[in-house]
Amino acid sequence: MQKVNNSLNLLSKVAADFIGLDTVYKTADGEKSRRIYLDSTASTLMMGVAHDALEAFYDHYANTHSVLHFSARISTDLYYWAHDRILSFLKADPDSYACFFTGSGTTAGINRLARVFRDNRPDRDTALVSLMEHHSNDLPHRKHMNKVIHLPLDNHQGQPGCINLEALEFELSKNSEKVNYVAVTGVSNVTGIINPIHDVAEMAHEYGALVLVDGAQAVAHMPVQMAGHKNPNRNIDAFVFSGHKTYVPGSPGVVVCRKDILLNIEPEEVGGGMVENVYIDRYEIKKSFPDREEAGTPNIPGAISLAVAIDVLDRIGMQKIYEEEEELILIAMKKMKEIQDILIYGEPDCNVCPRVASISFNIKGMDHGLVAAILNDYHNIAVRNECFCAHPYVKEMILDHLLEATEYVEEENFEEEFKLKSGMVRASFGLYNSLSDVNALADALMDIVTNKEKYSAIYHVDVNGEYRHNSFCAEKENHFSVTNFIDQYFNK
Ligand SMILES: Cc1ncc(COP(=O)(O)O)c(C=O)c1O
Repeated sequence: MQKVNNSLNLLSKVAADFIGLDTVYKTADGEKSRRIYLDSTASTLMMGVAHDALEAFYDHYANTHSVLHFSARISTDLYYWAHDRILSFLKADPDSYACFFTGSGTTAGINRLARVFRDNRPDRDTALVSLMEHHSNDLPHRKHMNKVIHLPLDNHQGQPGCINLEALEFELSKNSEKVNYVAVTGVSNVTGIINPIHDVAEMAHEYGALVLVDGAQAVAHMPVQMAGHKNPNRNIDAFVFSGHKTYVPGSPGVVVCRKDILLNIEPEEVGGGMVENVYIDRYEIKKSFPDREEAGTPNIPGAISLAVAIDVLDRIGMQKIYEEEEELILIAMKKMKEIQDILIYGEPDCNVCPRVASISFNIKGMDHGLVAAILNDYHNIAVRNECFCAHPYVKEMILDHLLEATEYVEEENFEEEFKLKSGMVRASFGLYNSLSDVNALADALMDIVTNKEKYSAIYHVDVNGEYRHNSFCAEKENHFSVTNFIDQYFNK
Protein backbone atom coordinates (compact mmCIF):
# COMPACT_ATOMS: atom_id res chain seq x y z
CA MET A 1 0.00 0.00 0.00
CA GLN A 2 2.84 2.32 0.97
CA LYS A 3 4.54 1.55 -2.34
CA VAL A 4 1.38 2.34 -4.33
CA ASN A 5 0.97 5.65 -2.51
CA ASN A 6 4.62 6.54 -3.08
CA SER A 7 4.25 5.74 -6.74
CA LEU A 8 1.09 7.87 -7.02
CA ASN A 9 2.71 10.74 -5.12
CA LEU A 10 5.72 10.66 -7.39
CA LEU A 11 3.50 10.44 -10.45
CA SER A 12 1.53 13.54 -9.46
CA LYS A 13 4.72 15.45 -8.62
CA VAL A 14 6.34 14.55 -11.93
CA ALA A 15 3.13 15.20 -13.90
CA ALA A 16 2.93 18.74 -12.53
CA ASP A 17 6.59 19.44 -13.28
CA PHE A 18 6.82 19.54 -17.08
CA ILE A 19 8.14 22.53 -18.96
CA GLY A 20 5.46 24.22 -21.02
CA LEU A 21 2.46 23.38 -18.87
CA ASP A 22 1.92 27.08 -18.15
CA THR A 23 2.43 28.37 -21.69
CA VAL A 24 -0.20 30.99 -22.45
CA TYR A 25 -1.44 32.04 -25.90
CA LYS A 26 -3.97 34.59 -27.08
CA THR A 27 -6.87 32.96 -28.91
CA ALA A 28 -9.13 34.23 -31.70
CA ASP A 29 -11.71 35.59 -29.23
CA GLY A 30 -9.01 37.91 -27.80
CA GLU A 31 -8.68 35.99 -24.52
CA LYS A 32 -5.44 34.61 -23.11
CA SER A 33 -5.49 31.05 -21.83
CA ARG A 34 -3.22 28.13 -20.93
CA ARG A 35 -2.30 25.91 -23.87
CA ILE A 36 -3.64 22.36 -23.61
CA TYR A 37 -1.05 20.10 -25.15
CA LEU A 38 -2.62 17.05 -26.83
CA ASP A 39 0.16 16.33 -29.32
CA SER A 40 2.46 14.04 -27.32
CA THR A 41 2.46 11.34 -29.99
CA ALA A 42 4.38 13.76 -32.21
CA SER A 43 6.71 14.97 -29.43
CA THR A 44 6.32 15.09 -25.69
CA LEU A 45 7.03 18.05 -23.43
CA MET A 46 10.24 18.14 -21.37
CA MET A 47 10.23 16.51 -17.95
CA GLY A 48 11.30 19.10 -15.35
CA VAL A 49 13.74 16.88 -13.48
CA ALA A 50 15.45 15.81 -16.74
CA HIS A 51 15.84 19.48 -17.68
CA ASP A 52 17.26 20.42 -14.27
CA ALA A 53 19.58 17.41 -14.14
CA LEU A 54 20.89 18.41 -17.56
CA GLU A 55 21.52 21.97 -16.43
CA ALA A 56 23.47 20.64 -13.43
CA PHE A 57 25.41 18.24 -15.64
CA TYR A 58 26.53 21.07 -17.97
CA ASP A 59 28.92 22.19 -15.22
CA HIS A 60 30.77 18.92 -15.83
CA TYR A 61 30.22 18.51 -19.58
CA ALA A 62 33.17 17.17 -21.52
CA ASN A 63 33.74 14.87 -24.48
CA THR A 64 33.56 11.20 -23.52
CA HIS A 65 36.51 10.48 -25.82
CA SER A 66 38.76 12.49 -23.50
CA VAL A 67 39.78 10.23 -20.67
CA LEU A 68 41.82 11.56 -17.83
CA HIS A 69 40.48 14.89 -16.64
CA PHE A 70 37.77 15.08 -13.96
CA SER A 71 34.99 16.26 -16.26
CA ALA A 72 35.75 13.64 -18.91
CA ARG A 73 35.50 10.93 -16.26
CA ILE A 74 32.17 12.28 -14.98
CA SER A 75 30.77 12.61 -18.51
CA THR A 76 31.97 9.17 -19.52
CA ASP A 77 30.61 7.44 -16.42
CA LEU A 78 27.22 9.11 -16.83
CA TYR A 79 27.12 8.36 -20.54
CA TYR A 80 27.69 4.64 -19.92
CA TRP A 81 25.19 4.75 -17.08
CA ALA A 82 22.60 6.05 -19.57
CA HIS A 83 23.00 2.90 -21.70
CA ASP A 84 22.77 0.60 -18.70
CA ARG A 85 19.75 2.44 -17.35
CA ILE A 86 17.86 1.99 -20.61
CA LEU A 87 18.76 -1.71 -20.80
CA SER A 88 17.45 -2.33 -17.30
CA PHE A 89 14.30 -0.25 -18.02
CA LEU A 90 13.49 -2.52 -20.96
CA LYS A 91 14.52 -5.64 -19.02
CA ALA A 92 17.15 -6.43 -21.62
CA ASP A 93 19.91 -8.54 -20.07
CA PRO A 94 23.19 -6.59 -20.61
CA ASP A 95 25.16 -9.79 -21.35
CA SER A 96 22.98 -10.47 -24.38
CA TYR A 97 21.77 -7.01 -25.45
CA ALA A 98 23.50 -3.75 -26.37
CA CYS A 99 22.01 -0.27 -26.23
CA PHE A 100 23.27 2.45 -28.54
CA PHE A 101 22.14 5.93 -29.57
CA THR A 102 21.62 6.91 -33.17
CA GLY A 103 20.21 9.92 -35.00
CA SER A 104 17.49 12.06 -33.49
CA GLY A 105 14.68 9.54 -33.40
CA THR A 106 13.36 6.09 -34.23
CA THR A 107 13.83 6.54 -37.98
CA ALA A 108 17.63 6.40 -37.90
CA GLY A 109 17.58 3.30 -35.68
CA ILE A 110 15.20 1.37 -37.91
CA ASN A 111 17.14 2.25 -41.08
CA ARG A 112 20.28 1.03 -39.36
CA LEU A 113 18.72 -2.23 -38.17
CA ALA A 114 17.15 -2.99 -41.56
CA ARG A 115 20.69 -2.96 -43.01
CA VAL A 116 22.10 -4.92 -40.06
CA PHE A 117 19.43 -7.63 -40.31
CA ARG A 118 19.86 -7.82 -44.09
CA ASP A 119 23.64 -8.25 -43.86
CA ASN A 120 23.37 -10.61 -40.91
CA ARG A 121 21.45 -13.17 -43.00
CA PRO A 122 21.64 -12.17 -46.69
CA ASP A 123 20.02 -15.41 -47.83
CA ARG A 124 16.79 -14.33 -46.10
CA ASP A 125 15.71 -11.36 -48.19
CA THR A 126 12.13 -10.76 -47.01
CA ALA A 127 10.69 -8.61 -44.23
CA LEU A 128 7.12 -8.76 -42.93
CA VAL A 129 5.55 -5.54 -41.68
CA SER A 130 2.02 -4.75 -40.54
CA LEU A 131 -0.33 -2.40 -42.39
CA MET A 132 -0.50 -0.02 -39.42
CA GLU A 133 3.17 0.98 -39.51
CA HIS A 134 4.51 4.53 -39.45
CA HIS A 135 6.49 5.14 -42.67
CA SER A 136 9.65 4.90 -40.56
CA ASN A 137 8.91 1.23 -39.91
CA ASP A 138 7.97 0.48 -43.49
CA LEU A 139 10.10 2.44 -45.98
CA PRO A 140 13.51 1.42 -44.50
CA HIS A 141 12.56 -2.23 -45.05
CA ARG A 142 11.33 -1.49 -48.57
CA LYS A 143 14.62 0.26 -49.33
CA HIS A 144 17.05 -2.15 -47.71
CA MET A 145 15.37 -5.54 -48.16
CA ASN A 146 14.62 -7.29 -51.40
CA LYS A 147 10.96 -7.90 -50.58
CA VAL A 148 8.45 -6.57 -48.03
CA ILE A 149 5.11 -8.24 -47.36
CA HIS A 150 2.44 -6.10 -45.68
CA LEU A 151 0.32 -8.00 -43.19
CA PRO A 152 -3.37 -7.20 -42.76
CA LEU A 153 -4.98 -6.23 -39.47
CA ASP A 154 -7.84 -7.87 -37.58
CA ASN A 155 -11.17 -6.67 -38.90
CA HIS A 156 -13.87 -5.70 -36.38
CA GLN A 157 -16.98 -4.98 -38.46
CA GLY A 158 -15.03 -2.75 -40.80
CA GLN A 159 -12.80 -1.18 -38.13
CA PRO A 160 -9.18 -2.35 -37.94
CA GLY A 161 -7.69 -3.80 -34.79
CA CYS A 162 -4.18 -5.09 -34.17
CA ILE A 163 -1.94 -7.15 -36.47
CA ASN A 164 -3.66 -10.30 -37.75
CA LEU A 165 -1.78 -13.26 -36.29
CA GLU A 166 -3.30 -15.79 -38.68
CA ALA A 167 -2.02 -13.80 -41.65
CA LEU A 168 1.37 -13.58 -39.96
CA GLU A 169 1.53 -17.34 -39.48
CA PHE A 170 0.40 -17.90 -43.06
CA GLU A 171 3.17 -15.69 -44.51
CA LEU A 172 5.80 -17.11 -42.16
CA SER A 173 5.01 -20.68 -43.15
CA LYS A 174 4.70 -19.84 -46.86
CA ASN A 175 8.06 -18.02 -46.92
CA SER A 176 9.77 -19.72 -44.00
CA GLU A 177 13.23 -19.93 -45.61
CA LYS A 178 13.10 -16.35 -46.85
CA VAL A 179 11.69 -14.26 -43.99
CA ASN A 180 14.53 -12.51 -42.24
CA TYR A 181 12.46 -10.57 -39.71
CA VAL A 182 9.07 -9.23 -38.72
CA ALA A 183 8.94 -5.47 -38.05
CA VAL A 184 5.95 -4.34 -36.05
CA THR A 185 4.99 -1.34 -33.99
CA GLY A 186 4.28 -1.81 -30.29
CA VAL A 187 1.53 0.84 -30.45
CA SER A 188 -0.04 2.56 -33.46
CA ASN A 189 0.74 6.27 -33.72
CA VAL A 190 -2.70 6.78 -35.31
CA THR A 191 -5.20 4.79 -33.26
CA GLY A 192 -3.10 4.00 -30.19
CA ILE A 193 -3.99 0.31 -30.65
CA ILE A 194 -1.51 -2.02 -28.93
CA ASN A 195 -0.02 -4.95 -30.83
CA PRO A 196 0.64 -8.32 -29.14
CA ILE A 197 4.40 -8.10 -29.71
CA HIS A 198 5.28 -11.19 -27.68
CA ASP A 199 2.79 -13.36 -29.60
CA VAL A 200 4.33 -11.99 -32.80
CA ALA A 201 7.81 -12.83 -31.48
CA GLU A 202 6.84 -16.36 -30.46
CA MET A 203 5.38 -17.08 -33.88
CA ALA A 204 8.23 -15.45 -35.80
CA HIS A 205 10.92 -17.29 -33.83
CA GLU A 206 9.21 -20.64 -34.42
CA TYR A 207 9.81 -20.02 -38.13
CA GLY A 208 13.38 -18.77 -37.69
CA ALA A 209 12.54 -15.08 -38.22
CA LEU A 210 13.75 -12.23 -35.99
CA VAL A 211 11.56 -9.52 -34.48
CA LEU A 212 12.14 -5.78 -34.59
CA VAL A 213 9.73 -3.68 -32.53
CA ASP A 214 9.14 -0.01 -33.30
CA GLY A 215 8.75 1.17 -29.73
CA ALA A 216 8.31 4.89 -30.50
CA GLN A 217 4.76 4.99 -29.09
CA ALA A 218 5.06 2.21 -26.53
CA VAL A 219 8.04 3.06 -24.42
CA ALA A 220 6.67 6.07 -22.51
CA HIS A 221 3.19 4.64 -22.04
CA MET A 222 3.36 0.96 -21.04
CA PRO A 223 5.72 -1.63 -19.52
CA VAL A 224 8.09 -3.33 -21.97
CA GLN A 225 9.95 -6.54 -21.20
CA MET A 226 12.36 -7.40 -23.98
CA ALA A 227 13.91 -10.50 -22.41
CA GLY A 228 13.61 -12.96 -19.54
CA HIS A 229 10.33 -14.54 -20.64
CA LYS A 230 9.69 -18.10 -19.51
CA ASN A 231 9.44 -19.06 -23.15
CA PRO A 232 12.54 -17.41 -24.70
CA ASN A 233 10.77 -17.33 -28.06
CA ARG A 234 8.71 -14.47 -26.60
CA ASN A 235 11.79 -12.28 -26.19
CA ILE A 236 12.25 -9.35 -28.56
CA ASP A 237 15.41 -9.20 -30.72
CA ALA A 238 15.54 -5.46 -31.28
CA PHE A 239 13.61 -2.46 -29.98
CA VAL A 240 13.90 1.13 -31.19
CA PHE A 241 12.49 4.35 -29.78
CA SER A 242 12.79 8.17 -29.81
CA GLY A 243 13.99 10.24 -26.86
CA HIS A 244 11.89 13.20 -28.02
CA LYS A 245 8.75 11.09 -27.49
CA THR A 246 9.98 10.00 -24.06
CA TYR A 247 9.81 13.38 -22.34
CA VAL A 248 13.23 14.68 -23.43
CA PRO A 249 13.20 16.88 -26.56
CA GLY A 250 16.70 17.11 -28.02
CA SER A 251 17.71 13.62 -26.94
CA PRO A 252 18.77 10.91 -29.41
CA GLY A 253 17.08 7.86 -30.87
CA VAL A 254 17.75 4.57 -29.08
CA VAL A 255 18.41 1.05 -30.37
CA VAL A 256 18.47 -1.99 -28.11
CA CYS A 257 19.51 -5.09 -30.02
CA ARG A 258 20.88 -8.59 -29.42
CA LYS A 259 24.67 -8.37 -29.36
CA ASP A 260 25.22 -11.58 -31.33
CA ILE A 261 23.38 -10.07 -34.31
CA LEU A 262 25.47 -6.89 -34.18
CA LEU A 263 28.73 -8.80 -33.73
CA ASN A 264 28.08 -10.87 -36.83
CA ILE A 265 28.80 -7.98 -39.17
CA GLU A 266 31.01 -4.91 -39.36
CA PRO A 267 29.19 -1.93 -37.80
CA GLU A 268 27.20 0.12 -40.29
CA GLU A 269 28.99 3.36 -39.38
CA VAL A 270 32.72 3.79 -39.00
CA GLY A 271 34.94 6.59 -37.70
CA GLY A 272 36.47 7.75 -34.44
CA GLY A 273 35.69 6.09 -31.13
CA MET A 274 34.68 2.67 -32.48
CA VAL A 275 38.12 1.40 -33.45
CA GLU A 276 40.83 -0.24 -31.34
CA ASN A 277 43.69 0.44 -33.81
CA VAL A 278 43.99 2.07 -37.20
CA TYR A 279 46.86 1.38 -39.62
CA ILE A 280 47.30 2.77 -43.08
CA ASP A 281 46.05 -0.46 -44.69
CA ARG A 282 43.50 -1.75 -42.13
CA TYR A 283 41.62 -1.04 -38.92
CA GLU A 284 40.52 -3.11 -35.95
CA ILE A 285 37.01 -2.54 -34.65
CA LYS A 286 36.26 -2.62 -30.94
CA LYS A 287 34.32 -5.62 -29.70
CA SER A 288 32.87 -3.70 -26.76
CA PHE A 289 29.47 -1.99 -26.73
CA PRO A 290 28.28 0.70 -27.10
CA ASP A 291 31.58 2.05 -28.55
CA ARG A 292 31.49 -0.37 -31.48
CA GLU A 293 28.16 1.02 -32.70
CA GLU A 294 28.72 4.72 -31.94
CA ALA A 295 31.18 6.28 -34.36
CA GLY A 296 31.92 9.97 -33.68
CA THR A 297 31.07 12.15 -30.71
CA PRO A 298 27.62 11.23 -29.46
CA ASN A 299 24.82 13.44 -28.12
CA ILE A 300 26.11 13.10 -24.54
CA PRO A 301 23.77 15.59 -22.79
CA GLY A 302 20.74 14.24 -24.67
CA ALA A 303 21.51 10.64 -23.76
CA ILE A 304 22.07 11.44 -20.08
CA SER A 305 18.91 13.53 -19.72
CA LEU A 306 16.91 10.82 -21.49
CA ALA A 307 18.20 8.25 -19.00
CA VAL A 308 17.16 10.59 -16.16
CA ALA A 309 13.59 10.64 -17.52
CA ILE A 310 13.66 6.84 -17.94
CA ASP A 311 14.87 6.46 -14.37
CA VAL A 312 11.96 8.60 -13.15
CA LEU A 313 9.43 6.62 -15.22
CA ASP A 314 10.82 3.43 -13.69
CA ARG A 315 10.57 4.86 -10.18
CA ILE A 316 6.89 5.65 -10.76
CA GLY A 317 6.37 2.23 -12.37
CA MET A 318 5.28 1.75 -15.98
CA GLN A 319 2.29 -0.39 -14.98
CA LYS A 320 0.98 2.49 -12.87
CA ILE A 321 1.56 4.95 -15.73
CA TYR A 322 -0.22 2.61 -18.15
CA GLU A 323 -3.23 2.28 -15.83
CA GLU A 324 -3.53 6.02 -15.26
CA GLU A 325 -3.29 6.83 -18.97
CA GLU A 326 -5.67 4.03 -19.89
CA GLU A 327 -8.29 5.51 -17.58
CA LEU A 328 -7.89 8.91 -19.24
CA ILE A 329 -8.18 7.39 -22.73
CA LEU A 330 -11.32 5.47 -21.74
CA ILE A 331 -12.96 8.65 -20.42
CA ALA A 332 -11.94 10.61 -23.53
CA MET A 333 -13.32 7.89 -25.84
CA LYS A 334 -16.58 7.71 -23.88
CA LYS A 335 -17.08 11.48 -24.02
CA MET A 336 -16.21 11.62 -27.71
CA LYS A 337 -18.57 8.76 -28.58
CA GLU A 338 -21.40 10.69 -26.93
CA ILE A 339 -20.95 13.62 -29.33
CA GLN A 340 -22.97 13.28 -32.50
CA ASP A 341 -21.03 13.35 -35.77
CA ILE A 342 -17.67 12.27 -34.31
CA LEU A 343 -16.13 9.27 -36.02
CA ILE A 344 -13.40 7.53 -34.01
CA TYR A 345 -11.03 5.34 -36.02
CA GLY A 346 -9.86 1.84 -35.15
CA GLU A 347 -11.80 -0.68 -33.07
CA PRO A 348 -13.32 1.64 -30.44
CA ASP A 349 -13.91 -0.97 -27.72
CA CYS A 350 -10.79 -0.90 -25.55
CA ASN A 351 -11.72 -4.26 -24.01
CA VAL A 352 -11.37 -5.79 -27.47
CA CYS A 353 -8.38 -3.70 -28.60
CA PRO A 354 -6.55 -1.96 -25.77
CA ARG A 355 -4.99 1.36 -26.73
CA VAL A 356 -2.74 4.02 -25.25
CA ALA A 357 -1.79 7.59 -26.02
CA SER A 358 -3.66 8.38 -29.26
CA ILE A 359 -7.23 8.80 -30.48
CA SER A 360 -7.80 9.78 -34.11
CA PHE A 361 -11.15 11.04 -35.33
CA ASN A 362 -13.07 13.20 -37.74
CA ILE A 363 -16.20 15.32 -37.49
CA LYS A 364 -18.69 14.46 -40.23
CA GLY A 365 -18.93 17.23 -42.81
CA MET A 366 -15.79 19.08 -41.68
CA ASP A 367 -12.22 18.75 -42.96
CA HIS A 368 -9.57 17.59 -40.51
CA GLY A 369 -7.57 20.80 -41.05
CA LEU A 370 -10.53 23.00 -40.19
CA VAL A 371 -11.24 21.10 -36.96
CA ALA A 372 -7.56 21.22 -35.89
CA ALA A 373 -7.42 24.97 -36.66
CA ILE A 374 -10.55 25.72 -34.60
CA LEU A 375 -9.29 23.60 -31.70
CA ASN A 376 -6.12 25.68 -31.73
CA ASP A 377 -7.46 29.16 -32.52
CA TYR A 378 -10.54 29.14 -30.27
CA HIS A 379 -9.82 26.53 -27.60
CA ASN A 380 -6.01 26.66 -27.31
CA ILE A 381 -5.85 22.88 -27.75
CA ALA A 382 -2.81 21.64 -29.68
CA VAL A 383 -3.53 18.55 -31.80
CA ARG A 384 -2.12 17.11 -35.01
CA ASN A 385 -4.00 16.44 -38.25
CA GLU A 386 -3.48 14.85 -41.70
CA CYS A 387 -2.13 11.31 -42.16
CA PHE A 388 0.53 11.09 -39.42
CA CYS A 389 3.14 9.45 -41.69
CA ALA A 390 0.98 6.34 -41.94
CA HIS A 391 -0.71 6.94 -45.29
CA PRO A 392 -1.80 3.38 -46.18
CA TYR A 393 -3.33 2.82 -42.72
CA VAL A 394 -5.13 6.18 -42.57
CA LYS A 395 -6.42 5.98 -46.14
CA GLU A 396 -7.75 2.48 -45.53
CA MET A 397 -9.78 3.74 -42.56
CA ILE A 398 -11.17 6.84 -44.23
CA LEU A 399 -11.65 5.49 -47.73
CA ASP A 400 -15.45 5.22 -47.64
CA HIS A 401 -15.93 8.69 -46.20
CA LEU A 402 -13.34 10.11 -48.54
CA LEU A 403 -15.09 8.74 -51.62
CA GLU A 404 -18.43 9.97 -50.30
CA ALA A 405 -17.04 13.44 -49.54
CA THR A 406 -15.32 13.87 -52.89
CA GLU A 407 -18.14 12.39 -54.99
CA TYR A 408 -19.50 15.76 -56.12
CA VAL A 409 -16.22 17.62 -56.43
CA GLU A 410 -15.39 19.18 -59.84
CA GLU A 411 -12.55 17.43 -61.63
CA GLU A 412 -10.25 20.50 -61.63
CA ASN A 413 -10.65 20.90 -57.83
CA PHE A 414 -10.29 17.22 -57.10
CA GLU A 415 -6.64 17.17 -56.05
CA GLU A 416 -7.00 20.04 -53.58
CA GLU A 417 -10.27 18.73 -52.15
CA PHE A 418 -8.81 15.25 -51.83
CA LYS A 419 -5.91 16.62 -49.78
CA LEU A 420 -8.22 18.65 -47.54
CA LYS A 421 -10.44 15.68 -46.82
CA SER A 422 -7.80 13.00 -46.75
CA GLY A 423 -6.77 12.78 -43.11
CA MET A 424 -7.86 12.80 -39.51
CA VAL A 425 -7.43 14.77 -36.30
CA ARG A 426 -5.36 13.15 -33.57
CA ALA A 427 -5.58 13.95 -29.86
CA SER A 428 -2.74 12.35 -27.94
CA PHE A 429 -1.89 12.21 -24.28
CA GLY A 430 1.09 12.10 -21.97
CA LEU A 431 1.90 11.93 -18.26
CA TYR A 432 0.97 15.59 -17.75
CA ASN A 433 -2.57 15.41 -19.15
CA SER A 434 -5.44 15.38 -16.70
CA LEU A 435 -9.18 14.92 -16.64
CA SER A 436 -9.60 18.67 -17.07
CA ASP A 437 -7.73 18.48 -20.41
CA VAL A 438 -10.06 15.68 -21.52
CA ASN A 439 -13.10 17.70 -20.45
CA ALA A 440 -11.77 20.73 -22.32
CA LEU A 441 -11.37 18.61 -25.48
CA ALA A 442 -14.89 17.19 -25.18
CA ASP A 443 -16.38 20.66 -24.59
CA ALA A 444 -14.45 22.08 -27.55
CA LEU A 445 -15.61 19.28 -29.85
CA MET A 446 -19.18 19.77 -28.76
CA ASP A 447 -18.85 23.50 -29.51
CA ILE A 448 -17.43 22.78 -32.98
CA VAL A 449 -20.12 20.21 -33.83
CA THR A 450 -22.83 22.61 -32.67
CA ASN A 451 -21.41 25.55 -34.62
CA LYS A 452 -20.17 23.91 -37.81
CA GLU A 453 -21.61 26.53 -40.12
CA LYS A 454 -20.48 29.51 -38.07
CA TYR A 455 -16.90 28.26 -37.95
CA SER A 456 -16.80 27.14 -41.58
CA ALA A 457 -17.76 30.68 -42.64
CA ILE A 458 -14.84 32.35 -40.83
CA TYR A 459 -12.08 30.20 -42.30
CA HIS A 460 -10.60 29.96 -45.78
CA VAL A 461 -7.98 27.74 -47.40
CA ASP A 462 -4.72 29.57 -48.19
CA VAL A 463 -2.35 29.03 -51.13
CA ASN A 464 -0.54 26.29 -49.21
CA GLY A 465 -3.76 24.38 -48.69
CA GLU A 466 -3.96 25.25 -44.96
CA TYR A 467 -7.08 26.41 -43.15
CA ARG A 468 -6.65 30.03 -41.99
CA HIS A 469 -8.90 32.23 -39.89
CA ASN A 470 -10.27 35.14 -41.94
CA SER A 471 -9.09 37.82 -39.48
CA PHE A 472 -7.09 36.27 -36.60
CA CYS A 473 -3.40 35.76 -37.37
CA ALA A 474 -2.05 33.12 -34.98
CA GLU A 475 1.61 33.84 -35.83
CA LYS A 476 1.28 37.57 -35.17
CA GLU A 477 -0.55 37.18 -31.86
CA ASN A 478 1.65 34.45 -30.47
CA HIS A 479 5.24 34.95 -31.32
CA PHE A 480 8.53 33.82 -29.81
CA SER A 481 11.72 35.40 -31.09
CA VAL A 482 15.10 33.98 -30.21
CA THR A 483 16.85 37.11 -31.44
CA ASN A 484 14.77 39.18 -28.98
CA PHE A 485 15.71 36.65 -26.35
CA ILE A 486 19.42 37.18 -27.11
CA ASP A 487 18.99 40.98 -27.01
CA GLN A 488 17.24 40.81 -23.66
CA TYR A 489 19.76 38.34 -22.31
CA PHE A 490 22.63 40.80 -22.80
CA ASN A 491 20.66 43.85 -21.65
CA LYS A 492 19.44 42.27 -18.45
C1 LIG B 1 5.21 4.56 -34.36
C2 LIG B 1 6.26 5.51 -34.83
N1 LIG B 1 7.37 5.02 -35.40
C3 LIG B 1 8.35 5.82 -35.84
C4 LIG B 1 8.27 7.18 -35.73
C5 LIG B 1 9.39 8.04 -36.22
O1 LIG B 1 10.01 8.62 -35.13
P1 LIG B 1 11.08 9.80 -35.31
O2 LIG B 1 10.39 10.91 -36.02
O3 LIG B 1 11.45 10.13 -33.90
O4 LIG B 1 12.22 9.24 -36.07
C6 LIG B 1 7.13 7.74 -35.17
C7 LIG B 1 6.97 9.21 -35.09
O5 LIG B 1 5.90 9.74 -34.93
C8 LIG B 1 6.11 6.89 -34.68
O6 LIG B 1 5.01 7.38 -34.11
